[in-house]
Amino acid sequence: MENKKKMHAAITAVGMFVPDKVLDNAYFEKIVDTSDEWIRTRTGIQERRMLENGATSDLATGAAKDLLTTYKINPEEIEVIIVATVTPDMFFPATACLVQDNIGAKNAWGFDMNAACSSFLFALQTGSGLIESGRYKKVLVIGADKMTSITDYNDRNNCILFGDAGAAVLLEPTTDLKYGFQDSLLKVDGSGRESLYMKGGGSLNPSSHETVDKNMHVIYQDGKVVFKAAVKGMADISYDLMEKNNLKGDDIAYLVPHQANLRIIDATAKRMGVGREKVMINIQKYGNTTSATIPLCLVEYYRDGKVKKGDKLILAAFGAGYTWGATYLVWSMD
Ligand code: COA
Repeated sequence: MENKKKMHAAITAVGMFVPDKVLDNAYFEKIVDTSDEWIRTRTGIQERRMLENGATSDLATGAAKDLLTTYKINPEEIEVIIVATVTPDMFFPATACLVQDNIGAKNAWGFDMNAACSSFLFALQTGSGLIESGRYKKVLVIGADKMTSITDYNDRNNCILFGDAGAAVLLEPTTDLKYGFQDSLLKVDGSGRESLYMKGGGSLNPSSHETVDKNMHVIYQDGKVVFKAAVKGMADISYDLMEKNNLKGDDIAYLVPHQANLRIIDATAKRMGVGREKVMINIQKYGNTTSATIPLCLVEYYRDGKVKKGDKLILAAFGAGYTWGATYLVWSMD
């Protein structure tokens, strides 16, 4: 690990927002041909949340407000807002603009980041770079997705997987290089684009009666192909990042994996030599919330007193694109 940086980006505040409405597995038994038993054993999911009224900016704003009020931070101090999402309220303006207005961050600029299920890791790398440049002191990184807005509730392969949530972290500089963002490996491979994507609504297939009739505005996924690619991608890159930083399984306090399927999580942990007790898991409560899964885990485990200052964490994700990556950070909050 090259430690030439003068400062690291450290997480100094966290927040989250999940909508109240719960969709349990029994709900899906009523609408498609499935069973609670199948969903639990094949995915690990028991419940997920649905935002009934509102959009992704509301999930992101909820998380940002939770962070700002919990830590009594004046929104005018926020300099940059990055919203990681695949379900922006609109093509434009960016969801970050809507969040900026909602929270009164009068002095911020910002943008959205779309790397599918890896969006939060890509945003965290970008936000950390802005901090390390020395130019910014408060960067808000939010992962938020209203996945229920692009889920086909007639497709039993996919509808059981996804839910809505938002979670946020604040990045600030630390000159104590033991803490904060240490390293990351990130990748894209667009040859995987047709295994997991939304076919319609973009410039390739603009919205029309035909795209609606052909059901092109929902998630399309070849689950088996993505499953295999995700296991290999997440496990390999986490292993490579650990090797690069001379880390063994025992050095790691937690693996923080993207929550897409409990079997993918278990396979990644096994490859890294990390036991289940050292893996952050909340997929049973929320399903796959895409950009929100990793920060949501961080917030919940921290608030439960399970993450301590100095803990070494490996964050890992895999998603559409393909996109994937792993991030090594040392927890910096008391
Ligand atoms: N209830 C009951 N049966 C279902 C079902 C459901 N909700 N969904 C699929 N099945 C059926 C399939 O139709 C198939 O039946 P068949 O053998 O008669 O064709 C059978 O279960 C097995 O399907 P398969 O695709 O092999 O299941 P799986 O074990 O691969 O699990 C996923 C399916 C989608 C859960 C799994 O592939 C997965 O998690 N993929 C990756 C998802 C992901 O991570 N996406 C986000 C990006 S990281």
